[in-house]
Amino acid sequence: MSNGIYFPPSLQRFEPKRMVFSTWVDHLPFAYDLVAAIHPKLIVELGVYNGLSFFTFCQSMIEHNIDGVAYGVDCWEGDEHTDAYDDSIYNDVAEHAREHYRGNTYLLRMFFNEALQHFNAESLDLLHIDGLHTYDAVKEDFTNWYPKVKPGGIVLFHDVMAKIKDFGAWKYFEELEQQHEDVFKFNHGFGLGVIRKAGGEPSDEPLLKMMFSKDETTKQQLRQFYVHAGLFLESRRQATFWRQARKGGRKGGQGKEKPPESSEAPPAE
Ligand SMILES: C[S@@+](CC[C@H](N)C(=O)[O-])C[C@H]1O[C@@H](n2cnc3c(N)ncnc32)[C@H](O)[C@@H]1O
Repeated sequence: MSNGIYFPPSLQRFEPKRMVFSTWVDHLPFAYDLVAAIHPKLIVELGVYNGLSFFTFCQSMIEHNIDGVAYGVDCWEGDEHTDAYDDSIYNDVAEHAREHYRGNTYLLRMFFNEALQHFNAESLDLLHIDGLHTYDAVKEDFTNWYPKVKPGGIVLFHDVMAKIKDFGAWKYFEELEQQHEDVFKFNHGFGLGVIRKAGGEPSDEPLLKMMFSKDETTKQQLRQFYVHAGLFLESRRQATFWRQARKGGRKGGQGKEKPPESSEAPPAE
C-alpha cells in the first residue's frame, strides 16, 4: 500500500445482502475482497450459524462472476459458545441460500468430521474455520481439514484475538504463526487469522502481496485500512437504512430490516 492506492471492490460496490448480528461484521469488506482476489473454485466454511461470513463469500463470488461453489458445514444445533438454538436459524439460512445462491451454495447439516469424506485432498481454495473456539476444537478442525486445502490455498480463523472464557483460537493461531511462512492477522473486532498454504502459483493480487509482505509497515497499513473499511461500510449501511426509512420502505424486523445497532435517528429534515 505504501507504493500505491489500494481501492478494492468492497469500497467500490459492496452492499451486503445478508446482515444479521454476528461478531464477524468487522471483517465483511475483507471477506468480500479476498474472494475477489483469489477467485476460489471451492470454498468450505466450518461453522455457518446465521450465515454472515458465509453469505459474504457467496455474494462476492456471484458479483465477481466467479464460477465456484461454497459449502457451509454446521450441525445447526449450536455449541458451548453459541449455546443451543432452534431450527429457525437453519431455516432462515436455507431460505436465504435458496433465494440468492441456488446452484452455487450447499449447506451440509452435519458435524465437521462427517463432512470430511465429501472433499478430496488438496481441493479447497478457501477454508474458513469458525466452529467451537476452544484450543482443542480449533486444533482438531485445522488438523483434519488442512490436508483438504490446495497448495497456495487460504485458511481463515475467526476470533484469534478473543481472549475470553475458554476461547483458545488465539493460542493455537499463535503457534501456527511460528510454523507458516505466509501468515497475517487482523487484530480488530475479535480478530481474523489468515494462512496461505505453501506451494501453488505466486499471486500478483495486491491484497495477497500486502498480507504476506515481509514489510511490517505494509501489513500494519493493511490492518488499518480494513478497520476503516468496516466503519465505512457500517456508515453507508446506516445511511441507506435511514434513507429508505424516510421513504417508508422499511418495516422493521430481523436482520438488515432492523435499524443498525449503533445508529441514532438522523436529524429531522
Ligand atoms: C461461531 S458460530 C459461526 C459464526 C458464523 N461463521 C458467523 O458468520 O457468524 C459456530 C457454529 O459452529 C457450529 N459448530 C461448532 N462445532 C461444530 C461441529 N463440530 N460440527 C458442526 N457444527 C459445529 C455451531 O453449531 C455454530 O453454529
